[in-house]
Amino acid sequence: MKNLQWQVCVFAAILIVQLGTVLCGRDFYSILGVPRSATTNQIKKAYRRLAKELHPDKNKDDEDAVQKFQDLSAAYEALSDTEKRETYDRHGEDGLKKEGGFGSMDPFQSFFGDFGFFGGGGNERKEVMKGADVVMDLHVSLEELYTGNFVEITRNKPVAKPATGTRKCNCRQEMVTRQLGPGRFQMTQQTICDECPNIKFTNEERTLEFEVEPGMTDGQEHKFVAEGEPHIDGEPGDLRIRIKTQAHPRFERRGDDLYTNITISLQDALTGFEMNIPHLDGHKVHISREKVTWSGARIRKKGEGMPNYDNNNLFGVMYITFDVEFPKSELSAEEKEGIRKILNQNSVNKVYNGLRLSS
Ligand SMILES: *[C@@H]1O[C@H](CO)[C@@H](O)[C@H](O)[C@H]1NC(C)=O
Repeated sequence: MKNLQWQVCVFAAILIVQLGTVLCGRDFYSILGVPRSATTNQIKKAYRRLAKELHPDKNKDDEDAVQKFQDLSAAYEALSDTEKRETYDRHGEDGLKKEGGFGSMDPFQSFFGDFGFFGGGGNERKEVMKGADVVMDLHVSLEELYTGNFVEITRNKPVAKPATGTRKCNCRQEMVTRQLGPGRFQMTQQTICDECPNIKFTNEERTLEFEVEPGMTDGQEHKFVAEGEPHIDGEPGDLRIRIKTQAHPRFERRGDDLYTNITISLQDALTGFEMNIPHLDGHKVHISREKVTWSGARIRKKGEGMPNYDNNNLFGVMYITFDVEFPKSELSAEEKEGIRKILNQNSVNKVYNGLRLSS
């Protein structure tokens, strides 16, 4: 029955689409600009990019900015969760609403970290006390740095919650002058405090989502505002996630360039070869060589390095260094003669000529 209703609804929507009216709730896929087959990662990426672009703070002239941003958040909420996405695919936004629990997400909190609850402190104070920053290393693979990834981080930390009563806060030393009699007064130093609403710290678990962006570099930090140590009289510190690159078995990264080593047979070294090297995202890097390849020879593949962090359309260089494996089998006298004839490298047997370092 529900299904039928949805079909009718889709049909009506198709009819009406030319008028620009959406009948059965919003089309979350087109809001995010992704195909229906998009992976969760693609959805997150699209959301992340659009959230930056459409944030109302950046679009003050656009009357619909808030609405657009809310549409975007709703689209993300529906499609980033596999269960909700299934419901949406089947029954549309109405289906999600019927199931309940949809629309609970605060669009201004999701990706931007929460800004903490802290009342009480007078605004006139210039110096705001702050809890310590927490730095956490995140170990990521070179593959993740190449293609990008979303990593969920679960953090468990004390969070300030309102409690009954009041507490002393913003305490400071002040001079108090008291008239003791005619011509006599006394100055004393006193601790003066304000009364603030009481708070208590309760441990709370929360999932933070961190995007490993393509091209991020080792040691690069990302700040989650206010996710660090809390401070009772001020703002919490920040949580700083620091990228640590795991060693890779085949590639070494230097800047945006990648280095790799390949061993080829002596036969291939002399006669040329063709091969495909699997890259970090699985695509093949094709190499073909006609010329002789000596041990230590290096070739450059432009555009096959790491993506540049600031501009993902730019890529570094891949350097491939070759090593040549010699055959271990014995050659017969005839074979040796044959090779001599082919190579024809007569009398290069120089006396020791020093160490030759392959470059
Ligand atoms: C390639 O070989 C050189 C020399 O043996 C070595 O220093 C380097 O770490 C190797 N690179 C990779 C990615 O294995």
